Amino acid sequence: MNILILGSGGRESAFAWKIAQSPKCQNLFIAPGNAGTTQYGTNVNLKVTDFEGIKTFVLGNGINLVLVGPEEPLVKGVHDFFLNDEQLKNIPVVGPQQEAAQLEGSKDFSKQFMEKHNIPTAAYKTFTKDTLQEGLTYLTTGGLPVVLKADGLAAGKGVLICTTLEEAQQELTEMLAEAKFGEASSRVVIEQFLTGIELSVFVMTDGNSYKILPEAKDYKRIGEGDTGLNTGGMGSVSPVPFADAIYMKKVEEKVIIPTIEGLKKDGIPYKGFIFIGLMNSEGEPWVIEYNCRMGDPETESVMRRIDSDFVDLLQGVAEVNLDQKELVISPKTAATVVMVAGGYPGEYLKNKVITGTENIHESIVFHAGTSTDGDNVISTGGRVLAITTLQDNMFNALQQATADASRIYYDGMYFRRDIGFDLL
Ligand code: AMP
Ligand code: GLY
Repeated sequence: MNILILGSGGRESAFAWKIAQSPKCQNLFIAPGNAGTTQYGTNVNLKVTDFEGIKTFVLGNGINLVLVGPEEPLVKGVHDFFLNDEQLKNIPVVGPQQEAAQLEGSKDFSKQFMEKHNIPTAAYKTFTKDTLQEGLTYLTTGGLPVVLKADGLAAGKGVLICTTLEEAQQELTEMLAEAKFGEASSRVVIEQFLTGIELSVFVMTDGNSYKILPEAKDYKRIGEGDTGLNTGGMGSVSPVPFADAIYMKKVEEKVIIPTIEGLKKDGIPYKGFIFIGLMNSEGEPWVIEYNCRMGDPETESVMRRIDSDFVDLLQGVAEVNLDQKELVISPKTAATVVMVAGGYPGEYLKNKVITGTENIHESIVFHAGTSTDGDNVISTGGRVLAITTLQDNMFNALQQATADASRIYYDGMYFRRDIGFDLL
């Protein structure tokens, strides 16, 4: 098979690494990819939202399957674009259609879906510019802190946790009346604050049956000890000790099955990944959010724990026979440490020459924001590299990934040295 991956981050690097190992994969292309993905396939200079360009490439290169990494092309309807095109309609896309992608693309849609199908989630209400006054009053009736969420995609910045009523009322006003996040905050979900530990759960589905992929914990804050600003993710670990068989059974019964069955009942087809962001509150799972894609940097750890042929699983999604496929998961621990650019998640340094990756033997260096200047690999993004290792036990995995990250150098580089150590 010839496979095209859309995306350019650490997640897509991990997909490419895994897919390239499959005997079923003949030619692998990554659009646009990064400096590291050329180890696994051929980069294609196309934007993930350039649907016409993608069409030309797919038809010209005999692509048999398209795997979509990020949410943006899904929310913009790349899968629908294929289905509605005479020449593309039989080429499978792994990643949901636009309607289902609203599980991520609209917080209000996802909350309504959860409410309708009795999936445990924080109490909420949605407001618009026209109902701002009601929203301001609603804020006085709930507890603190309170969570405000811009309805649409806001580059990961649309969620605000407010600790005082004044702050919450001001933010709500800015979001609704002053379009703080543009169109994304034309609707705002006000939600009860949940306490506990977060967990990322990943489900692969063909719309009929599902497989639960390895779970992971993600570290979102820039600073050690979970301090400072939110980032795209600074590291991940899989498995997660508290997500034992009993807990995961609860997650399956209370969240995963109602989600898959809810999609079916609502007549919403779904082929792809569902990333369920959970809060574990005193042993009970509460859904914080759905994403219509895999997580980054969770995918880097998750892919390393999948022992089965990933292309076979992707084919199961495409051909709606996932229930006949085998998913074998390694009992070992995978750990990922993300190396970021100086300044990230604010304004950050770019075009810094990266050295030392040749010294890494026990981990895989997944590239994220990298490119080449002809002679050197240089940093181009905020998240630059993801160092992922797989070891017999958690302590060794955490130590190895951290030690390997410190063998790499570029001007201004930074990574957290505490990824996963809270789990030991
Ligand atoms: P989201 O964009 O929905 O993933 O939210 C970003 C982050 O905000 C989450 O990963 C949580 O850390 C936090 N968060 C969102 N909703 C809640 C909630 N209801 N209670 C506590 N924390 C939340
Ligand atoms: N690591 C969180 C995300 O991919 O959204």
